[in-house]
Amino acid sequence: MCGIAGVVALGNISEKLVSSIRSLEYRGYDSCGIAVINGSGKPSVRKNIGSVEEVSEKENFLDLHGNVGIAHTRWATHGGVTKLNSHPHSSCDGLFTVVHNGIISNYISLREKLEKKGHVFVSATDTESIAHLIEENYSKLKSVEKAFTATLKALDGTYAVALLTAHEPDRIYCARKESPLILGLGVEENYIGSDFNAFIENTKSAVILDDNEYAIVTHDGYVVKRISSGEMVVKQVLEIMWDSEMAQKGGFPHYMLKEIHEQPQVVRTAMNIEEDRLMKFAEAIADKPRLYLTGVGTTFYVAQFAQYYFSAYAGVTASLASSDEFKFMANVDDDVFVLAASQSGETYDTLSALRHAKAGGAVTGAIVNVMGSSMARTVDHLILQGSGPEICVISTKAALSQMVIMARLALRLGLLNGKLTAKDVKAREKELDAVPKGIEKILNEKSGFIHTIAKEQSHIPHWLYLGRGRYYPIARESALKMKEVAYVHAEGMPSGFLKHGTIALIDDNLNCVVFMPPEEDAELYKLTLSSAEEIRARNGYVLGVMSESKSPSKHLPFSETIILPKAPPFTAPFFEMVAAQLFSYFTATTLKRNVDRPRSLAKSVTVA
Ligand code: G6P
Repeated sequence: MCGIAGVVALGNISEKLVSSIRSLEYRGYDSCGIAVINGSGKPSVRKNIGSVEEVSEKENFLDLHGNVGIAHTRWATHGGVTKLNSHPHSSCDGLFTVVHNGIISNYISLREKLEKKGHVFVSATDTESIAHLIEENYSKLKSVEKAFTATLKALDGTYAVALLTAHEPDRIYCARKESPLILGLGVEENYIGSDFNAFIENTKSAVILDDNEYAIVTHDGYVVKRISSGEMVVKQVLEIMWDSEMAQKGGFPHYMLKEIHEQPQVVRTAMNIEEDRLMKFAEAIADKPRLYLTGVGTTFYVAQFAQYYFSAYAGVTASLASSDEFKFMANVDDDVFVLAASQSGETYDTLSALRHAKAGGAVTGAIVNVMGSSMARTVDHLILQGSGPEICVISTKAALSQMVIMARLALRLGLLNGKLTAKDVKAREKELDAVPKGIEKILNEKSGFIHTIAKEQSHIPHWLYLGRGRYYPIARESALKMKEVAYVHAEGMPSGFLKHGTIALIDDNLNCVVFMPPEEDAELYKLTLSSAEEIRARNGYVLGVMSESKSPSKHLPFSETIILPKAPPFTAPFFEMVAAQLFSYFTATTLKRNVDRPRSLAKSVTVA
């Protein structure tokens, strides 16, 4: 979603401010803006539509000089992508300027009331009401802090909001309700941001605001208080484990490719998660008779992947719920464990599902990549995956790591259930240990071939991704990658389902990808192969993805075949997913898509 940043210092902050929103651009990138104050006077505001790079140049952001400033990069929710709807937004007198992430659900009634009082609105956003309401409240209360908190109390919905005001030009006021906001603590310089990336170049010390808290930040300090009572809150200072280099492209043309290449390391990190932590997590799951797995987008497919592994290796039946549907279909009570996956730990739908589950008495757990994120602090049981910053909007390494962790949890659940012995677990873990090397091999030896096929087939407008059993979630996740990054229509489907209708679509405009299990997975292999045969019998194009075989059949029904390192059934899906990530990436680059910032998407969707 939108990204918010702010800097309070003694010297000029424009450059730091622009660099902050550049680092947050993956949260939204249709327009951006900044506001700064230089000692006194009204905040100077510059904004426009386009990327930070473009707008910064067009609007000469760096010509603005000031020691206090706020900035915003937008993913439009209320009001189209226009200059006027870009943030920051100001009050009529221009003395109050705000940036906001979230949705103010009562903004229409607030706006009507304020307009009756003579306030003139210039944008179609929900955010502008906040600036006018602060101005209105200030005229009565004569205190910025009181006007700010009175305004917050009048807002329904969700927000991370930051305020700059000419009345107190040495500080930023900011607050949070269900949208993330973090303070960064530097030397004679402090920061605010939607996430660590806003200020990680400058400091690794952070304070995470909790819901319904506000903060006043100056160059030499900060206070955090409760919105409801004004009572001070003592906060813990957190040391961020990521560093700014991890968030650079490191010689790769895109973050997506860099992150795909980081997967061997990410899997090693997932394999290093301590036994004790995994076991305790598994015990907490096993402690409850019913289990829900949840996530959205890519993490929904991670959850589905876990559903197959929990069933196959632990005999555990889990219900699967997309987080956005969770409260409409799940029955939660104190017999339930709800397990979510989330890269950001901030996705509104998943967070709401977990909160709903908690309110219903369920025990919650999550696999999350971002330490200190809302989900990390909400759940009863947490596994931090430690995959490092994932900057590309499209999730690759975080998802693979989550799948590996889910597979490791399945083994522990199997052990607890008596379905697996310690020896079985050891054997499967050994197979997992071989995954990083296998991925390296794919990256080094198969990228060129996959690139060639992507180029040859990039004109095809429709793709069906087919997989059976545990390859079904891989097919769906791979189809999502294709849609997200290449804007090519793709659907993931169980290969056995094809013949029940969709097969009617096979023609020259539709290609298929078939994810084959290793031959030793005999039944699955045979069934998947027959789906490929059915497509070929109708002259459809089939791209086969499969592991190396000792005696490869000369009669496989594939138009092209991506042959991957030999892998056992437990780990083969990981390799196939990596091949599909590369295929989407190269299709997107061939079609000249904006790989790291696909249209209409945002990395961390913090609205309903
Ligand atoms: C958004 C992104 C998806 C992502 C999903 C879940 O919809 O566009 O790519 O998979 O959020 O994100 P999370 O941070 O919870 O893993």
